[in-house]
Amino acid sequence: MERFNAWGKNFVPHISKETIERSIKGCAAAMNERYRDATDETAPIFVSILNGAFVFTADLLRETTFPSVLSFIKLSSYEGSASLGKVTEVIGLNMDIAGRDIIIIDDIIDSGLTMMGLKRQLLEMNPKSIAVATFIHKKHSCDKSLMVDFAAIETTEDSFVIGYGLDYDGIGRNLPSVYILEE
Ligand code: IMP
Ligand code: MG
Repeated sequence: MERFNAWGKNFVPHISKETIERSIKGCAAAMNERYRDATDETAPIFVSILNGAFVFTADLLRETTFPSVLSFIKLSSYEGSASLGKVTEVIGLNMDIAGRDIIIIDDIIDSGLTMMGLKRQLLEMNPKSIAVATFIHKKHSCDKSLMVDFAAIETTEDSFVIGYGLDYDGIGRNLPSVYILEE
């Protein structure tokens, strides 16, 4: 498809299916190395953030070779008190993560604020470790506060992208590759 229109905006092809496939294999290879000693008892827990990460999660997990378990969560964010600022509530985490290795999976990390907030909350549940995996990491030269352990695609491109799970106001998640907003 040469062009995709969502809510009156034009998106053009940006990252091909082939590139996505290759980058996910690379990402999984790094994970397979890091968690190669995992057993059924110590299996890392993937915590995948709905809705955006569902496509990446499905493809990534099928490239991993160590035992793992999977939990999908949703984040609902609301304005807290002035001192708390924006509060993110974690919905659906249905297992005890104490003492376990956690791998958070998101679709895209931009400012990193969403991920930092979630990481802080999960740390309070005393996991053994927390790693962050993302399909796309929008790298900004300015912020180094969030550690991204596994990124399939790293980009300095700042424009809005959709497809492969990513949406523009709900539309575009079904696109098999990544499209970028046309300037
Ligand atoms: P952050 O807190 O700034 O890292 O924002 C992360 C969230 O913003 C992601 O989980 C996405 O839902 C959304 N987001 C940021 N950039 C894009 C984009 O280019 N396309 C689609 N969603 C995006
Ligand atoms: Mg998201």
